[in-house]
Amino acid sequence: MAGLRFSNQGQSLSPLLQAVEARLQEMGSDQAGALGVYAGHMIRAGGKRLRPLLVILCSGIDDPVCQPLIDIATAAELIHTASLIHDDILDQAATRRGIPTLNRLQGNHTAVLAGDLLFATAFGLLARAHCSGALAVMTDAIRDMCQAEIEQKEALFQFSVTEGMYLSRIEKKTASLLAACCSAGALAGGQAPEAVASLAAYGRNLGLCFQITDDLLDFTGDSATLGKPSGSDLAQGILTLPVIYLLNNIAFEQGSEIAIERHPTPNPDQARLQEIARQASTGGRGCSLHDQEYIKQAVCDSPTLSMAYRKALYFAQEAAGYLDGFAPEKSCTALLGLVDQVLQRHR
Ligand code: FPP
Ligand code: MG
Repeated sequence: MAGLRFSNQGQSLSPLLQAVEARLQEMGSDQAGALGVYAGHMIRAGGKRLRPLLVILCSGIDDPVCQPLIDIATAAELIHTASLIHDDILDQAATRRGIPTLNRLQGNHTAVLAGDLLFATAFGLLARAHCSGALAVMTDAIRDMCQAEIEQKEALFQFSVTEGMYLSRIEKKTASLLAACCSAGALAGGQAPEAVASLAAYGRNLGLCFQITDDLLDFTGDSATLGKPSGSDLAQGILTLPVIYLLNNIAFEQGSEIAIERHPTPNPDQARLQEIARQASTGGRGCSLHDQEYIKQAVCDSPTLSMAYRKALYFAQEAAGYLDGFAPEKSCTALLGLVDQVLQRHR
């Protein structure tokens, strides 16, 4: 499995990942009834296929026709796709992966049901795989994701949000599913309990790193490259790490200990930021486009983006550390490579 890529465009896909991709394309085809016609819209749009890749790599299996593993890996991608379809409904998003969202094309009614259809299909595959451990970790992750979405809604424009609250939310929103993919693959592959735990911890830290870099891209990326509008977090009131650092006037952290110190000189205008925060949390929860632009500019002019990147780096190092006990086999090397690829997404 050497040279596995973080993209389904590469030529070095493992036969197992190719089997998953073939299964996904089959489900997303027009011949697959409502699943293909509606949910297939998002499946066909592609994506990184990071979750099936984690399932496969953590299993240690390289039998290209291992059906239970193909089922679990396919289910992981379907659960992820369903969550994005539902997320786009909640966010009223118009584009994802460079194409119009299902809610934009078909309306919320159809989009909710298409997401549900994907869930049902995913659980059918998990049941068929006869791996109760994989089923359990996947359902736990979905519970975490739903809880995170509720917390995220409750925290909209709440400028008092702390770094700890943010990390706890992204752990449930994103890291939990990546950890579940790693555990599910490891359990399906019959890995020892300590290995399952280490791989889950790897996935959790990779997920934290992934979401922080994703949140950075909302400031630094452009809509064409991202395939979705940039700047949408702040517009929706979702406060991410750079804004949290800015609002708390936190200007640097030290080493990998994540000890945070307060900056000695207020920069930018803290009084203005506090007034924006006060108005946003008291006056109908929102801030004007003008104020959003001020915050965005202040973030971009301050060290907060590089501080947030350093936090991502910290979780990347933690993730890599959990692979230390594994023999340097091809799949372990590929897992290490994924850490670098996730980190490199930030610009
Ligand atoms: C995308 O993140 C969204 C998620 C990672 C989770 C969405 C979860 C739900 C909608 C809960 C329901 C889910 C299930 C599995 C039942 P983002 O909003 O930060 O990224 P984006 O900018 O790509 O939208
Ligand atoms: Mg979203």
